[in-house]
Amino acid sequence: MLGLKLPTDPRWVNIVEKNIEEILTDHAYCEQKAASTAISLIIGFPEKSELVKEMTALAREEMGHFHMVHDRILKRGWVLGRERKDEYVIELMKFFPKGGSRDTHLVHKLLYAALIEARSCERFRLLSEEINDEELSEFYRNLMVSEANHYTMFLKFARKYGNKEEVDKKWQDLLDYEAELMKNLGKKETMHG
Ligand SMILES: [Fe+2]
Ligand SMILES: [Fe+2]
Repeated sequence: MLGLKLPTDPRWVNIVEKNIEEILTDHAYCEQKAASTAISLIIGFPEKSELVKEMTALAREEMGHFHMVHDRILKRGWVLGRERKDEYVIELMKFFPKGGSRDTHLVHKLLYAALIEARSCERFRLLSEEINDEELSEFYRNLMVSEANHYTMFLKFARKYGNKEEVDKKWQDLLDYEAELMKNLGKKETMHG
């Protein structure tokens, strides 16, 4: 599914179920970070009009998701906590060497975003299928659909602004690297933990 090379162990959902407050807190920030990635692409690459248009829509959509997660936190009688550290994203972003041309930098940013969307989508699907909470199961099923479109959109832009063959090779290499990272994850009640 989604080109990912290592599926998440479904037992991750059993860990999540024991701490719904934690997963919702972490998830809320994932949505915010998705919105800020979209905004940073607008700031960094204003001349790419098609990208700017789609990132404008995406930033709004991701903040809409944040709004929905935040509402669920409040509805359960909690208050949004502080941002959780996302070790997965920190490690993932070490893959491509720093530096290079502006266009290379753009392609790398787009590929990271595509992969984070794909993995998030996989986690949402797992939650929708396995979580023992009807409201959240439906919530994650709906989110899964929109995240799947985000992953393909980022990949489309990477191929548009980069050399297609090079981009496809980088994407495969990044997927391999991510699968290695995933071997040690799936043990925490965070979205990518
Ligand atoms: Fe989202
Ligand atoms: Fe997204």
